[in-house]
Amino acid sequence: MNDDELIASARAAALKAYAPYSRFHVGCAILSADGEVVTGANMENACYRLGICAEQSALTAAQHAFGLDKVARIAVAGGVVAGELTGEQPVTPCGGCRQAILEAAQLGGGDIAILCASGDGHEVEEHTIFSLIPHGFGPANLAGAS
Ligand code: THU
Repeated sequence: MNDDELIASARAAALKAYAPYSRFHVGCAILSADGEVVTGANMENACYRLGICAEQSALTAAQHAFGLDKVARIAVAGGVVAGELTGEQPVTPCGGCRQAILEAAQLGGGDIAILCASGDGHEVEEHTIFSLIPHGFGPANLAGAS
């Protein structure tokens, strides 16, 4: 799957978000090293702080489908649904999601590319997890423990 298709998958996943409180729909698509793709979307809760981000939703699917160590490339897109997903500002993963993606990167032993797309899909920024969370704390830091 190429980058345009991965972004299209993230945008399609955003349409399945459960976001009645923020009305901000986020979708995430994850490509494995072997070419498999899983998706996820944010899932909010009446107890607001229990909401789950799209990236964490997709990472859970990735864990079950092929394992976190196989995560190779991630696309995220978010915005408001008005017939289709709209929005001109690229969505970058929140701090908590960066930490979760870092876990996958360190498990896999390499960096992970993250395509951050606007809701309308027209604006795309490419980052890597090591650039989005420099000097991060991950499983590698615990290697000598216990
Ligand atoms: N959200 C995500 O799903 N991923 C992010 O990286 C940023 C924020 C969700 C959480 C909440 O449901 C909504 O977007 C508004 O913050």
